Amino acid sequence: LTVAVLISGTGSNLRALLDAAADPSFPARIVVVGADRQADGFAHAEHYGIPTFMVPFREFESREDWGDELLAQLDVWQPDLVVLSGLMRLLPAAVVDAWAPRLINTHPAYLPEFPGAHGVRDALAAGATETGASVIVVDGGVDTGPILAQERVPVLPADTEHTLHDRIKPVERRLLIDVVRRVATGDLDLTAIA
Ligand code: GRF
Repeated sequence: LTVAVLISGTGSNLRALLDAAADPSFPARIVVVGADRQADGFAHAEHYGIPTFMVPFREFESREDWGDELLAQLDVWQPDLVVLSGLMRLLPAAVVDAWAPRLINTHPAYLPEFPGAHGVRDALAAGATETGASVIVVDGGVDTGPILAQERVPVLPADTEHTLHDRIKPVERRLLIDVVRRVATGDLDLTAIA
């Protein structure tokens, strides 16, 4: 299975996926890493000699134009699966329509709880005693797609957004790696997902 990973930031989840895929027995290969900005996470792709592309959001007139360029880049690589791993950008409908359900996203909350760009902060603000990590199929909404995997993560009284996110990310990475493995082995058929 060939995989394209899209990021915006540090790419720690990307790094975990790259490390897993470096094992020859892992049934998926990361073929390209893309970002909507100059993402620190590109360093992880370079470490593994994996090509990268950047479609800088701020250089486009509209989200739709940005999306069209993203589609053009993805068409170059023709991956079997696109993984959003810390892409902090809502995809335009044209991208979701072209790639779903071979388009999955990781989210640092127990969806449908705390969707959106600040799931960790929102869980803390709500006084939640537990939150979680989720891997979903991207649909036209914000973190509303079918849930492929999720797991609870405790919130501790002294947690900050940073300490809580740091507790969530390892769970997120494990879930993501397992979902990619299951898609690659055919154990999980995304086209059969409603
Ligand atoms: C991850 O928790 C991801 O789910 C969220 O932002 C974080 C990105 O972290 N959207 P990183 O860039 O993988 O370190």
